[in-house]
Amino acid sequence: MKSVFVPGRVNLIGEHTDYNEGLALPFAVDLGVNVTSSARADDRVRVAADGFGVWFADTEAEHEFERQAQVVLTDRHVTNVDLHVSSTLPAGAGMSSSAAYIGALTLVSGARGTLEELARLVQRYESLAGSDVGLLDPLATLGAREHRALLIDFSNLATRLVPIPVDVGFTVFHSGISRSLATSGYRDRRDECRAVSAELGPFRMLTMSDLAGLGEPLLRRRARHVLSENERVLAMEVALTTSDLRAIGSLLRSSHVSLRDDFEVSLPAIDALVGTICALPGVFGARLMGGGFGGCILAVHDSDVQPRIEGVRHWRVRPSDGALARLS
Ligand code: GLA
Repeated sequence: MKSVFVPGRVNLIGEHTDYNEGLALPFAVDLGVNVTSSARADDRVRVAADGFGVWFADTEAEHEFERQAQVVLTDRHVTNVDLHVSSTLPAGAGMSSSAAYIGALTLVSGARGTLEELARLVQRYESLAGSDVGLLDPLATLGAREHRALLIDFSNLATRLVPIPVDVGFTVFHSGISRSLATSGYRDRRDECRAVSAELGPFRMLTMSDLAGLGEPLLRRRARHVLSENERVLAMEVALTTSDLRAIGSLLRSSHVSLRDDFEVSLPAIDALVGTICALPGVFGARLMGGGFGGCILAVHDSDVQPRIEGVRHWRVRPSDGALARLS
């Protein structure tokens, strides 16, 4: 019997930068997806997923999670196994449950390689299953390390680990707004960023002063978010290394403002929730996390407190090892 655990991730800062050759600073969390594989007598693959039912991989996929499994199992030529999937990661809460699920299926099917090779493979499976996402989630869920964040430079996929001060706590709040509306918005933002590159050249070569050359104010705002977010990632690295808790909080708040005003992926209800969370005792800062248009909010706070809001689901998360560090 083989068993693989792939954690979810939190993105501390660096949103919508992964598909723009920018920077991000995620860490893996202590919640994730576990897949166990055991031999079966015939050549079929039976999947039993807690809370999602039981199905055979060679029958027509009805749901997204069946399609995702089918993509991986077909490509890896998996036969003769019973798979058992269990998860402590809330689905659709913006902590990369789908990258963790696809990653766990990929690793339990025997795929091995460098961090970059495996992350690209998971990204390809996500894309074949219908989601055109960047490399942020697979790199974080596979490559992160305990007590540290993973600074990723998407222009060359170089990574470095940044220690996280022990007196900082992290809580993810669910906005209660499903991200199903989001798909088209996410795609629009990718298209708009492509339009910026088509006019000015690759994002990795751009500086703020180049943006005046963009005809459309909307594209200028989109590009300004990406470039300012890259700067905030580097400033966050310094703030973490020097345990500057105030700076950590203020970077989160300015990231939210940029996501709200320049990238326009927030919603009024989320802005209000971010404001409420920022006002809670012990909270240094908070922001919308992930693709946007719903999903979750990350709060950074004093590790001795547990911020909470009546009626809002939350998860306290701790920077943990990614899947590759857990493989024996
Ligand atoms: C989603 C995608 C990631 C990334 C974020 C925004 O979570 O899966 O690849 O683009 O949005 O930072």
